[in-house]
Amino acid sequence: MTLPNGPKTTGKLAFLRRFKLIFRPLEYLDDYAQTYGDIIKIGGEKSAPFVYLSNPEGIRQILATDPELFVVGKGNRILRFLVGDNSLLLMDGHAHQRQRQLVMPTFHSDRLKDYSQLIWNITQQSTAQWPIGKPFAIRPTMQEITLQVILQVVFGVYQEERSQRLRQLITALLDSFDTPISSSMIFFSFLQKDWGAWSPWGRFLRLKQQIKELIYEEIRERRSKMQDLGAFNSNYTDILSLLLSAKDEAGQTMTDEELHDNLMSLLIAGHETTASALVWAFYWVNRDPEVRDNLRQELDSLGENPTPLEIAKLSYLNAVCAETLRIYPIVPSAFIRVAKSPLEIMGYQFPAGSAFALSIYLLHQREDLYPSAKQFKPERFLAKKYPAHEYLPFGGSNRRCIGSALALLEMKLVLANIISRFDLKLQHNRPVKPVRRGLTFAPPGNLKMIAKPRSCLN
Ligand code: HEM
Repeated sequence: MTLPNGPKTTGKLAFLRRFKLIFRPLEYLDDYAQTYGDIIKIGGEKSAPFVYLSNPEGIRQILATDPELFVVGKGNRILRFLVGDNSLLLMDGHAHQRQRQLVMPTFHSDRLKDYSQLIWNITQQSTAQWPIGKPFAIRPTMQEITLQVILQVVFGVYQEERSQRLRQLITALLDSFDTPISSSMIFFSFLQKDWGAWSPWGRFLRLKQQIKELIYEEIRERRSKMQDLGAFNSNYTDILSLLLSAKDEAGQTMTDEELHDNLMSLLIAGHETTASALVWAFYWVNRDPEVRDNLRQELDSLGENPTPLEIAKLSYLNAVCAETLRIYPIVPSAFIRVAKSPLEIMGYQFPAGSAFALSIYLLHQREDLYPSAKQFKPERFLAKKYPAHEYLPFGGSNRRCIGSALALLEMKLVLANIISRFDLKLQHNRPVKPVRRGLTFAPPGNLKMIAKPRSCLN
């Protein structure tokens, strides 16, 4: 049976490979692509292979294959420690489809209009205390904004004290994986040992437990409030209320555990990624004054006090966000698709059990699709509309990111709000590369900027 080329992967080499994937993920992918091309087979000698795919036609074929022919949720087992067993991220088939359908309407672009003013106001508040003229790390502000937004989407308006506590705990929980070294806890199970509250894993477990208790409290209170109202009240449009009122075919509602795992999944998936994308956006826009000036010109063309919805429609702003997600995608590859039966892709015959990773990073670096791929050029998204198999920041088919429209809306509004009020400068103007942050590729957490009120000369 013909299979594509790839490295030999036995014994020590396999361990070293994992090490490089954690600590130098971009070099790892670039080296492989240079040596083996855009379809790379890893393993496959004794068992089914793992395949990195960045060939657009190969990606098109995978995305066009009936999703029922793949197992995906099981491949996401690595996330179990964070989201629990009942998360839609870990499901397949009917159960996955059902959970997706329940939450999707909330993230539809029509519904999101209601959130645009909220995003605008949160940005205004979160930047009000920026230290003027002094270097400061920009990530915490971006994380604060995106976390506040997702909490509102998931829980609606609720007790401020609990919301604040939840924000602190979730931020601390995710900061447990904010460097490549701490991220290695996710990949090496022997590091997952509870040596007490001061050990990294012990601290993580305790934070997770506190978050769980708060979410359970919220579920119990909301359930009893909704019961008091007698029936589902259409004033509640947040996800918790939708899930609380949902029933399966047998008329059963979700258990507290199912609710918790799904809320947690949305909270986690729904803000760190967008925060990283925003930090990159500020990095690129402020490295190239021409991009920033073009953005401001476009914003100014809307006149005084445009509405957030008018802003969200701007085409250059959209192109800047698209290019930000192209050049350094936050999620380096889509969820792994494991073939349930033998499958032909790009003329190769893959056995059942073959695992396909669609490499978003390598796809986005292709010179044939993106000339001068290492350069930040928003214009390419004005000149061409890329199909899904050429541009994949949010993945595709039945697992396509649920929150893509929300993430883009947040990116546009936060960027527009801040560049129209502040002149930002990078503290150091040297190039910055992505680093591993858990399962994502993010800008270094200590990326610093200097803010001044926008000068009238611009
Ligand atoms: C810039 C920000 C974001 C990026 C780059 C991103 C990227 C992705 C990617 C690549 C996938 C996997 C898709 C696949 O394998 O085909 C995914 C899945 C998912 N994302 Fe996002 N995401 C972002 C923001 C969000 C937000 C704001 C939410 C809000 C809830 C969210 C919720 C999810 C969920 C629930 C899934 C799993 C979908 C499923 O399994 O059916 N993401 N995302």
